[in-house]
Amino acid sequence: MTAHRHSTDSHDGARSVLKPLNFSLRWFEEISSTSDVARELAKSGAAEGTVVVARRQTAGRGKFSSRWFSPEGGLYFTLVLRPEIPAGQSHLLAVAAGLAVADAIELAIGASPQLKWPNDIYLSGKKVAGVLTETEVSNQRVRLALVGIGVNVERPDFGVPDHLQGSAVWLSELGTASLTELLTGVLDSFIVWYQRLKSGDFAMMAESYNRRGLLVGRNVEVRSASQVAAGRCRGIDAQGALVIEQSRGFTTVAAEGEVCSWS
Ligand code: BTN
Repeated sequence: MTAHRHSTDSHDGARSVLKPLNFSLRWFEEISSTSDVARELAKSGAAEGTVVVARRQTAGRGKFSSRWFSPEGGLYFTLVLRPEIPAGQSHLLAVAAGLAVADAIELAIGASPQLKWPNDIYLSGKKVAGVLTETEVSNQRVRLALVGIGVNVERPDFGVPDHLQGSAVWLSELGTASLTELLTGVLDSFIVWYQRLKSGDFAMMAESYNRRGLLVGRNVEVRSASQVAAGRCRGIDAQGALVIEQSRGFTTVAAEGEVCSWS
């Protein structure tokens, strides 16, 4: 798959033609984690656009060192990117990926997913997919990004772990989607969002994210390493940070962290 759109990049005062994103798929039956294998391949020089896909993961990783339940029937893959964007824009990779996953799900089953900052995709109020982005930065530029995506597709007949009961949803509960159709949908859409990111079209990305924003207009509590912020969520800003309106009209932003409650 290749990006058909070439656009020019005029931010930073430079004009350069954006490199098209060519995908090269590497399929595995069972591996520990697509992100681990993608990292090894990247270390041996795998090109941007390499996509590691697995039917099952034995040690799928989620955020905060959690396990990602990865039985057969789900979609698990990691994209190798070499974006060369400023380190301060790295959060936008997960924004682009979340938008692409939401687009693909909507195309496949017709339901409208919502995005829960920073990396979760929700359907019917429950989590259906997650994004785990790992980056390597040098001289303030993102040299390597591994964007790992997991989508709950077929609800397994043998049951699901207790911690997912009631909080997770599978696409098969709402419609029918094949793994290849979904994967193609995500990659097709990601090409477009990634080009927008690299062209500096952040306002448009934030606007689209907020249109799908699960938390927009809700009261949230966000915990990060440096602060706990509570207030009314106003969506994300053009850097991908969550904007929270606290009491007395005072607004703060959380660049990273976890939303521990919302109502
Ligand atoms: C989250 O906790 O929401 C992020 C989950 C990311 C899971 C995906 S599945 C493919 C890739 N490989 C992994 O080990 N994790 C990511």
